[in-house]
Amino acid sequence: MKIRSPIVSVLGHVDHGKTTLLDFIRGSAIAQKEAGGITQHIGATEIPMEVIENICGDFLKQLDIKETLPGLFFIDTPGHEAFTTLRKRGGALADLAILIVDVNEGFKPQTYEALNILKMCKTPFIVAANKMDKIHGWETYKGLPFLKSYSKQTKSVQEKLDTKVYELVGILHEEGFESERFDRVENFARQISIIPISAKSGEGIAELLTMLMGLAQQYLKEQLQIETDAPAKGTILEVKEETGLGVTVDAVIYDGILKKKDTIVLTTIDKVIKTKIRSLLKPRPLEEMRESKKRFKKVDEVVAAAGIKIVAPNIEDVISGSPLRVATKDFERVKEEILNEIESIKIDTDEVGVTVKADTLGSLEALVNMLKNMDVPIRVADIGDVSRRDVVAASIVQKENPLYGVIIAFNVKILPSALEEINASGLKLFSANVIYKLTEDYQEWIEAAEE
Ligand code: GTP
Ligand code: NA
Ligand code: MG
Repeated sequence: MKIRSPIVSVLGHVDHGKTTLLDFIRGSAIAQKEAGGITQHIGATEIPMEVIENICGDFLKQLDIKETLPGLFFIDTPGHEAFTTLRKRGGALADLAILIVDVNEGFKPQTYEALNILKMCKTPFIVAANKMDKIHGWETYKGLPFLKSYSKQTKSVQEKLDTKVYELVGILHEEGFESERFDRVENFARQISIIPISAKSGEGIAELLTMLMGLAQQYLKEQLQIETDAPAKGTILEVKEETGLGVTVDAVIYDGILKKKDTIVLTTIDKVIKTKIRSLLKPRPLEEMRESKKRFKKVDEVVAAAGIKIVAPNIEDVISGSPLRVATKDFERVKEEILNEIESIKIDTDEVGVTVKADTLGSLEALVNMLKNMDVPIRVADIGDVSRRDVVAASIVQKENPLYGVIIAFNVKILPSALEEINASGLKLFSANVIYKLTEDYQEWIEAAEE
């Protein structure tokens, strides 16, 4: 039995500073090396507790933390994509989240998207009000805690920041969350903490990490306890070709142990497969999985929580967001379990309802849940691009009920043959890479059609 590091997702709109925040914590400069400054892939980084203690200093002592955690396991997600691939059986992969908002820009589409999904998954989170150094007149004090730096600012600068923080409080209230600047929070179980920070100068990051540790302390007791000798459970983040390695999968292991000699069970669009691991490659602590091609270290085993790159045959068609299991003697049972999980998300009926397509299991689950909350009947919900078959299915529904004879597609391609059919039939297609935008557009369309 051991306590694993909490898995922390960093979420927010494009360019609001997710990678820069992790860079500061890592003391590296990955953001500067990214093509176009955009995070192209999901990354995972382990931060040992010493690093966190170093940054937080005395703040942590005031928290009186009883449980010692080995560290924090951060997942950086691209702002231009949904992070909804990040699920595990029965819920979200992340134990905690940081919702990062550019304090000067406020909430943007992906901020709302992230908040919606945190709400759906009931993930405890804090809000980082980033880029406070860009507030006009802000005097930067590198690495200083927020309250110290704030006290050195002029009254008018303090007021400007206060106003912006209250704008966030207002929006969060409209979205159903009570929140306050962290030092004014009276009830941590009821109110979300907002921590003003500068990911660039490091101001406020001491308090941010302290609040995160507080959240871990408050919410995560049982769920971080793992059996270190149980067969691993994980989630596939990404399937990618690596020069010299061939096709690899990046996975986050959230329970148990994964060994080099293991045979693993993975999922493709239409089947569950078994494959033997060729090598396990681990980034060293403080390094980022997607960054450390040369710095990967071959290992014999990893214990959760861990980010791991796996080399194995026949993994080309594995889907992001699908589960990873170790194939033990009871392969059939594991397979059954995985299929059940997938079947519980996919929908295939003859009912009069909408046709839903999404890129991953997680995004499909989120979209289906949101449609169900709106009482929208669903005929088909599946992973993959929109095909001619989907259009034909939706056309059949259209004849019975035009309101449901539509395709709702999240982050997938519309295949040319499908597009042809759509153009010919005049079928309504909703396609976007923000989930709440899809459901909102559909809702508006229905309201307009009903008038
Ligand atoms: P995506 O991964 O593309 O969604 O973006 P991101 O959220 O990871 O943002 P990123 O860290 O790449 O930052 C975007 C830009 O904002 C970069 O030019 C950063 O240097 C800048 N930036 C991030 N945080 C701060 C901050 O606190 N202050 C200032 N002045 N600039 C910042
Ligand atoms: Na960026
Ligand atoms: Mg980024």
